[in-house]
Amino acid sequence: MKIRALTLFPKMFDCLNESIVGRAVKNGLIDIRAVDIREYTADKKHFKCDDTPYGGGAGMVMSVQPIYDCVQAVDPDHEYLRVYMSPKGETLTDKTARELAAHDKLLLLCGHYEGIDERAIELCVDREISIGDYVLSGGELAAMVVIDSVARFVDGVLGSRVSHEDESFADGMLEYPQYTRPPEFMGLRVPDVLLGGNHAEIEKYRRECSEKITAERRADLIKAKTAASVNDENGGR
Ligand code: ADE
Repeated sequence: MKIRALTLFPKMFDCLNESIVGRAVKNGLIDIRAVDIREYTADKKHFKCDDTPYGGGAGMVMSVQPIYDCVQAVDPDHEYLRVYMSPKGETLTDKTARELAAHDKLLLLCGHYEGIDERAIELCVDREISIGDYVLSGGELAAMVVIDSVARFVDGVLGSRVSHEDESFADGMLEYPQYTRPPEFMGLRVPDVLLGGNHAEIEKYRRECSEKITAERRADLIKAKTAASVNDENGGR
């Protein structure tokens, strides 16, 4: 999978060289590059990429020309899915991450300041994604969240023994609690059922834990799952 992050702050993406994503990059499973939008500005004297907003208002707006030329240079034939990171976009979910992972070329456009000129969105963007209802100072951290969540669905990134099906949200539910050695710590014991080796019992216990924690913390997920299964029973009518 190829990922290109278009940004005024390419160094921010250096942290993707660590951990699971870093290993996937080293193993050649994902090719991630941060592209500096500033290199594409027509203003070769001051390398300016922003300006004051028409109509007035606080802050600066990223100009359309450097963004347009940068996108054209990276993706002249529109082979990439072009995503703009924005608090106005659709909220990133497990489903979105799986959908994005099905594309082998992903372009993530990061805004800064008060956002980008609307014409850059009209001309260069297929999809707008938000990582939550709060405003970040730029789209870079949001793009890195997208990259991490998407990378986990790229074949081979998590290794063959890891299944996504037990993770939180995979089945519209939160994941059951996990334990590892020792069996007791500070008086807290690992539940006996997990030490017993009866796989049917373990599976039942985990399913019950998963249902309980989801009901307690995310009743909205249970509601969505129930609505989806009613819809399935009605054949999507
Ligand atoms: N840029 C600024 N805030 C953002 C958010 N919440 N999600 C995605 N991109 C952003």
